[in-house]
Parts: sequence; C-alpha cells; structure tokens
Amino acid sequence: MPGVHKKIVVLPGDGIGPEVTSAATQVLQDCAEAFGHRFELLSHAFGGVAIDTFGTPLPKETLAACRAADATLLGAVGGPKWEVLPLEQRPEAGLLGIRRGLGLFINLRPLRLRESLRRISPLHLERIAHCDFEIVRELAGDIYFGRHETTVENGVEVARDEAVYSVPEVERVAKYAFERAVARRGHLTSVDKHNILATSVLWRKTVVAMAPQYPTVTLDHQYVDNASMQLVLRPEQFDVILTSNMFGDILSDEAAALAGSIGLIPSMSMGNTTKGALYEPIHGSAPALTGKDAANPLGTIFSVCMMLRESFGLRTEADWIERGVDRVLDRGLRTADIADDPKQIVPSSVFLEQLRKELSENLRPTEQHGWGV
Ligand SMILES: NC(=O)c1ccc[n+]([C@@H]2O[C@H](COP(=O)([O-])OP(=O)(O)OC[C@H]3O[C@@H](n4cnc5c(N)ncnc54)[C@H](O)[C@@H]3O)[C@@H](O)[C@H]2O)c1
Repeated sequence: MPGVHKKIVVLPGDGIGPEVTSAATQVLQDCAEAFGHRFELLSHAFGGVAIDTFGTPLPKETLAACRAADATLLGAVGGPKWEVLPLEQRPEAGLLGIRRGLGLFINLRPLRLRESLRRISPLHLERIAHCDFEIVRELAGDIYFGRHETTVENGVEVARDEAVYSVPEVERVAKYAFERAVARRGHLTSVDKHNILATSVLWRKTVVAMAPQYPTVTLDHQYVDNASMQLVLRPEQFDVILTSNMFGDILSDEAAALAGSIGLIPSMSMGNTTKGALYEPIHGSAPALTGKDAANPLGTIFSVCMMLRESFGLRTEADWIERGVDRVLDRGLRTADIADDPKQIVPSSVFLEQLRKELSENLRPTEQHGWGV
C-alpha cells in the first residue's frame, strides 16, 4: 500500500493524559517512518487545561479541529484542581460535549488478554484463557442524556433522571454490533433490563426485529444483572456484547478489570463512519501517578493500534506495534500496574524506550510485507 497522509488531533488533557499520549504518538511516528506514511499530529487544549486557558473544557477551536481531522486521540481529563467547579463546568463535561459535538454514538471496547499478561487477571487462568470479546455500547442516549431534575415536593427533596431511546437510535448501534459479530465468531449478546424498563422493551424488540438480516449471527439476550455475573463466571461465552449507554458504562469497566489493569484497555467512539472517530484509553487522569514516570502507556498505544486498523485500514502496521509490545512483555518488562513480580517494574519511559528499540530492530524494508500476514 502506498503511504497515507492522515491528520490526527491529539488532546493530551490532564494528569497522566500528556504522558500517555506522548508515548503513543512517538510510536505512531515510528510507524509512519517505518511504513512510509505521514501522520500530521495537531495538539489541542481539552479538559482542565482548557478550562485554565480558555474558561471551557471544550473550546470551539478544539471541536472544529476534531471535526476536520481523520481521527482524534484523547488522553484523559479531570483532577482535584477542578473538582470544586459545578458539574457542568468540570473537565468531564467536555467528554459529553465532544461526544455530542462529533456525533459519536457507538463506543467499542475490545477485551483480548495478551498471553504474557494472563497471570495478572483476577480470574483463575483456566477461566480467563479463552476470553476474547468486544463490548459495543450506545453512547449518545439513555439516562445520561435525558432530563435531570431535582425539586422539592411536599417539603421533600426529590430527584429524577429520564432515560430515553428511540427505535432509530437503537437500530444504528445494533447494526454496527451485528456487523462486528458477522466479522468475528457470529455471536451477539444483547444486554438489557427487559423485565423492568420500557427503554429495554423497545431495545430488545428492535434488536430482535433486525436479527433476520444477519442469518449467520446467533443472537441471545441477557439481563444486565446476569450479564455482570456471567462476565466473571464464564467470560469465554461472549463474542460481541451490545448494550445501552449506562449498562455499557458499568459492564465495560467490569470487563476491563478482567484484564488486571485499567491501564491496558483501548477504546474507540464513532458516529456513522470511522472517519473522525475518537480513540482513547479507558482510564482517567490518575492524579496520584502524574509526573512519576509510572503510568502504563499501553491503553493509549493500543488505542493508536485501533485507530490504524479501524479508521485507516492499516492492519499490518497495527500488528507490527502489537507484536513489538508482546516482545517487550515477553522479556519481562512491566509498568507497576501490570507487574506480577516487583523485579519486572521499569519506569514508563524505559518501557517506551525498549518498545521503540524493539520496533526499530524488527522492521527492515525486506520484511515490510511479511508483517501481519
Ligand atoms: N475519559 C476520561 O478522561 C476519564 C475517565 C475516568 C475518569 N476520569 C477522571 O480522572 C480522574 C481520576 O479518576 P479515577 O481515579 O476514578 O480513575 P483513574 O482511571 O484515573 O484511576 C483509577 C485507578 O487506576 C490507576 N490507573 C489509571 N490509569 C492508569 C495507567 N495508565 N497506568 C497505571 N495505573 C493507572 C490509578 O492510579 C488509580 O489507582 C477524575 O477526575 C475522573 O473524573 C476521566
């Protein structure tokens, strides 16, 4: 494939965000150099740093730049400094704003455990051995985007949060989940609370009505309480999980815990196409780790791999990076969160240096077309 030219907006954000995005963009530039691509990286203010400079977590210029980009890479936002602000003015409000502003309604989180890291899973090795699934979470509706209200009724304080879904909102995310299942092992589990919630009745009816269009997919349904239990008891049963915004928020963090560290998991958020998709590690700004050269950069590096595959169709390049990571892990190097022996622990900067060395030593021009095949 001839070299590609892509514009990528980088939003380092707060806390460890700048550290992990810096690591991932260095790997991205190594990839560009090795494969003859051009990745134009444009850094913009987002989150707490944007509040400090522009008085808002999502400045107009930042949103405009993301809209014009081929993809966006986000670190993390938030921290104690901004916790005194009202909720709607905090860095985290920028996260909902950017999802809305970019029209992102699908969130994808893969959970595939790397061979060398299976021992850090809180589950027994035999339970975790065949764990390889994806969670497709609806991102733009549900109780997070409904009306929130606190009133006083008959002298008593009362709060209400409204959950709303329409058939088209369910269809567009379900279509994506069915397609992922077709491309994987052909099994889709839709998670709802059909026995209680009107939104879940609509959700299930809509998903069931779509199933005949995907004859190679086996569709089943689980209540969210059962799904949360099944994730721990028999995670290998899942291939693609489809669920609503709030259930997905909770289940995807539970699923991430199966990997043993939140610092490992990437994610993608997209709208109708992967052009302009947003990639980010699932962790937050980890204030206590900031500036200690201890943050795990892998969630962000794997997010870059997702970007290469999903938005740019550069699978060989993504495989090249992931294999480099596997070789560094096989040599026993770990950041503290993924070490099962203190002797393995190295600073993040050393882990990155070794990864870049590994990558540079394992791509010579003659090998270029051998990778990932
Ligand atoms: N998408 C986002 O930007 C996002 C997501 C979650 C939380 N937050 C914000 O981040 C701040 C801290 O939140 P929190 O403590 O609940 O969540 P967190 O993800 O920042 O931290 C949770 C735990 O995981 C550890 N951790 C996180 N990332 C790590 C990494 N890369 N390597 C090693 N260890 C890592 C932390 O040290 C901490 O022990 C809050 O302001 C919160 O609102 C932002």
